[in-house]
Amino acid sequence: MKHFLRVLAQFCVFLYCKFLWRTFKFVVRKVTGRCELQRICYNNKPGARRTLKIESSLKFSKSELLQSAVNVHPDLVEKTIDSIMALKKINPDTNPQLGISLQASLLQIVGYRNLVVEVEKLRREPYDCENLEHEEMLLKLWKTLRPESPLSGRISKQWCEIGFQGNDPKTDFRGMGLLGLYNLLYFAEHDKATALQVLHDSLQPKHRTISRGETSNISKIEWEKKKFDKAIGYSFAIVGINITDLAYSLLVSGALKTHLYNVAPEMPSLVHFQQTFCYLMQEFHRFWIEEDPCDIMEFNRVRNRFHKKVLKQLKNPDMALCPHFAASDLHLVNL
Ligand SMILES: *[C@@H]1O[C@H](CO)[C@@H](O)[C@H](O)[C@H]1NC(C)=O
Ligand SMILES: *[C@@H]1O[C@H](CO)[C@@H](O)[C@H](O)[C@H]1NC(C)=O
Repeated sequence: MKHFLRVLAQFCVFLYCKFLWRTFKFVVRKVTGRCELQRICYNNKPGARRTLKIESSLKFSKSELLQSAVNVHPDLVEKTIDSIMALKKINPDTNPQLGISLQASLLQIVGYRNLVVEVEKLRREPYDCENLEHEEMLLKLWKTLRPESPLSGRISKQWCEIGFQGNDPKTDFRGMGLLGLYNLLYFAEHDKATALQVLHDSLQPKHRTISRGETSNISKIEWEKKKFDKAIGYSFAIVGINITDLAYSLLVSGALKTHLYNVAPEMPSLVHFQQTFCYLMQEFHRFWIEEDPCDIMEFNRVRNRFHKKVLKQLKNPDMALCPHFAASDLHLVNL
């Protein structure tokens, strides 16, 4: 009974707050002559700050037109904005900027949804060695990362040199399908210098400097062994496929909205996602070195900490995860 009363009381408070909020919006609208969407556009600079607020305002609106706006086809965005302006009785001639701003935000919102669908499709498409296109991409990855040493054959131990597990990479793509290959190839082709550097470092056993006092007593053989134990290289391609998983989960959870709404002036596209992957590879590499793990067994721990760090960064509405090479290519909405 007590429990029931408590729930009832909470429900009443909820209704009351909702009522207060609606009344507040009504009063503000009467006083300022502006509706909520207008106020959001006037009070927030373009990018994630504005688009995130518009998105939640549309989603929680009581008007069906506004609620369904976030699901329209990109081709219908312009028409939808016209209908919203008409519904809100906003004169487009006296508020020309408002229509443009709303349209840009709505394109970002529906573009993000489409990007999730596109990325999901690539992730579900398995690597197929009968498919010529897939095979060509894989060979191109080799050529870009190892221009000086030709592959001895399609099935070769050499694949391990770029961090695959065995002599045929196809099995390594299982978790992320074609998406993993797309990302690795994009990184190798469009951010080549960084990709080569990361690959090079990942193959190097890193030696932790052991202080003199510690070494004075151990024999040379022991010293060599100790150095070997401190090797913390990792498998480039395998880690690339795993960081694809990380980028994918950031996208699907919606956490990447902050970043994409800040870097894509209109619809975010696959290229934006791939550039995010380049950034994550570079940052993960840096993070891995800083964390100084003893060996690859610590991958899980380091990855979790990295994931948390990125999630925290994305809580800041001004955040953009830009790889160094892209900052000038992207016409940043807001930085
Ligand atoms: C080095 O070895 C000697 C004798 O083997 C021992 O007395 C000394 O404490 C050792 N020093 C260190 C730093 O372990
Ligand atoms: C990536 O690594 C994490 C943690 O080790 C694991 O849970 C996840 O399944 C891996 N993803 C892929 C695609 O291998």
